[in-house]
This record gives sequence, C-alpha cells and structure tokens, in this order.
Amino acid sequence: MADQVASHYAGGNDIVAAIAESLRKAGKDMDKLTTADLGTVDEFHIRGRQATLELARSLNLTPESHVLDIGCGLGGPARTLVETYHCRVTGIDLTPEFCDAAAALCDWVGLSDQVSFRQGDATALPFDDSMFDAAMTIHVAMNIARKDLVYAEARRVLKPGARFGVYDVLQGEGGEVLYPVPWAREKSISHLATPDEMKSLLTKAGFKILEVQDSTEEGQRWFEAMAARMAAGAVPAVTFQSFLGNDFPQMARNQVANLRDRRIRTVTYICQA
Ligand SMILES: C[S@@+](CC[C@H](N)C(=O)[O-])C[C@H]1O[C@@H](n2cnc3c(N)ncnc32)[C@H](O)[C@@H]1O
Repeated sequence: MADQVASHYAGGNDIVAAIAESLRKAGKDMDKLTTADLGTVDEFHIRGRQATLELARSLNLTPESHVLDIGCGLGGPARTLVETYHCRVTGIDLTPEFCDAAAALCDWVGLSDQVSFRQGDATALPFDDSMFDAAMTIHVAMNIARKDLVYAEARRVLKPGARFGVYDVLQGEGGEVLYPVPWAREKSISHLATPDEMKSLLTKAGFKILEVQDSTEEGQRWFEAMAARMAAGAVPAVTFQSFLGNDFPQMARNQVANLRDRRIRTVTYICQA
C-alpha cells in the first residue's frame, strides 16, 4: 500500500528537473527564485498558499517554534511557515523523491537552514515524545487507512498544550469520489474519513478540537478557476502536472465535480494536544 502511494506521487520522472525546466521555459531566473515562483507547484493542496497561511494563523507560532509538517510533500507549506514566522520546520514524507525535491527547492530559495526533510511514514513517526511545539498535516490522511495511528503519533510527538492543524479532504455526502484525483488514480489508495469520523479519530487520539472550518465552497471556486485557466491554456509557469503527468487536467475536472456535488469536502481542524 505505502509503495503504491509513493509511486502514485513520484510518477517516475525527475521532479526537480521537470520543475526547473518549466521555470526556465517561463523565463524565470533560477538564481533569483522566490517562494512565490514555486507556490503553484509546491503548495500541493486545494487553495494553495492561502490555505497554508490560514491554517498557520491558529498554530501559535513564534521564531522559537519547532514545527512538524506531516506529509510535507515538496515542502511548500514548510517554507511558507518559515518565511512568515521565522520558525524552524521539520517535514516528513513517505515519498523519497518528494523529500529530495523538497530539499532542492529549499536550496533554490535559500531556506535550507530553517527547514529539514526526512523520509518516513506518518503512522510511525521517527521522533521522540513531546519534541515539537506545533504540527500540521495538509491533504495527507486521504491516502492512509490507519488514521488512528497518524493522529496518535502526532499527539505523542507534540508537547502538552501544543497546537495541531489538520486540513484534509473528507468524504462528503454527495456520493462516490470520481477518479482520477490528485491523491489517487483509483479507489485502492484513497481512504477518506467522514466529518463525524474525523471528530472521533482526533478526540480518541487525545486532542481537544478547538475549531472546525469547512472550506468546501472556497475550494470549489479555486478548482473551477484552475480548470477554466487550463481550458483556456492560461496556466502558470509551473503546475502539479510537472509530477502528476498528463492526466492532471482530468483530475482537475473531476475535482470540480467532486467539490460541486459534495462527494468530497475540505475541512480544517485546529486541535490542542
Ligand atoms: C497531496 S500531497 C500534500 C503535500 C503537502 N502536505 C502539501 O500540502 O503541499 C500528499 C502527500 O502525503 C504524502 N503521504 C501519503 N501517505 C503518507 C504516509 N503514510 N506518511 C507520510 N506521508 C504520506 C505523500 O507522499 C504526499 O507527499
């Protein structure tokens, strides 16, 4: 299962080379790249950087904070936190190619000192108890059947009282998900929890839920705008297509339908350990 998830994301091409080529083709100077240049590829979730900033606002971050990003992908959310709060972030991700690419992208924008990445599984975190001042996980658990382990592990590595931000794709009331979607080309690696299941999972792991925010409508508008831009050929310099490949336009169209029909929902939970 874990291998299938990692190969879904890694795609088989050289991710760093593909992103660099797209940026060069768009006329970007690789020596003067900013995190803003990367936001359309390295913030790999619905509503991109804006959603990361919204989540981060509730994590009580200071320059002294050491934050864990569970399922960090290409590291965009980690870099956004470092740039905004001047904190330190450790990212962990199942897909080795994403961890390597995340480190390379940090080098490009000069943020390697404050962010580090490590390959690993969210269901068995390679960290000591009570190590982190805050943690977040963005669009990760939809690939993981054992969410109970993910949240128990997050609780274990957080200091008592620390904040945990979860922004995920949930099963909606509108029927079966239409595939392919960005996290799965078919059902076998997709494991969506319902909003009721999420509340129970987080509570059973020992978290107090402080806030719940459903952003399905905003997510729908964001994906509609992206699908419209792609249909018009007006795509940004670099997109998720760099690693997801040529079926990304179909994934985007399916996401518009999945969100519109409420087959999926996007929900944020701000929790306290
Ligand atoms: C849609 S991406 C989101 C990446 C990142 N959080 C972001 O928002 O840009 C999902 C990520 O979850 C990772 N992932 C899936 N299952 C995982 C697991 N069991 N442990 C750690 N990471 C996992 C994948 O490798 C992928 O990088």
